[in-house]
Amino acid sequence: MLLVSLTLKNNFMSVSDLIKNKLYDKAKTVMEKAYAPYSKFKVGAAIFDENGKYHVGCNIENSAYPIGNCAEASAISAMIASNGNKIIAISVTGYGNLLCTPCGGCRQRIREFASLNVPIIVGNEKEIKKIFTLEELLPYSFGPENLV
Ligand code: THU
Repeated sequence: MLLVSLTLKNNFMSVSDLIKNKLYDKAKTVMEKAYAPYSKFKVGAAIFDENGKYHVGCNIENSAYPIGNCAEASAISAMIASNGNKIIAISVTGYGNLLCTPCGGCRQRIREFASLNVPIIVGNEKEIKKIFTLEELLPYSFGPENLV
């Protein structure tokens, strides 16, 4: 499995560290593309899926405020459109020192496609601030298996 730590030739960074840093970089980069003229709060999200592919998304607001899209929802759309359906790790970024943790709705959106131990890498424009598991952000959650 790609996430298993490996010692690379001449490089002691583990694969999981590589994925973590790459995910964070991708989220930070796509954050700049956000369409957020109303809140002025740009958010980026990047997913690493079960096929080893990365998918990114940003928030897209609308003049009819409630129908805006969160960055996580955009990244999940990109994953589904590329035949991915398992989130192995996800990063979410937003500006400032307060943690840009996924909103309640997005925690549930992530839950649909992720195991409870999936890392959610939260960062700002400068650095990774904290890594949570999905279970930490959404304890006692309801998911697809509740319906079967
Ligand atoms: N936002 C996200 O994109 N993801 C979240 O998890 C939190 C909030 C966006 C929605 C809106 O465009 C802006 O941030 C301010 O709430």
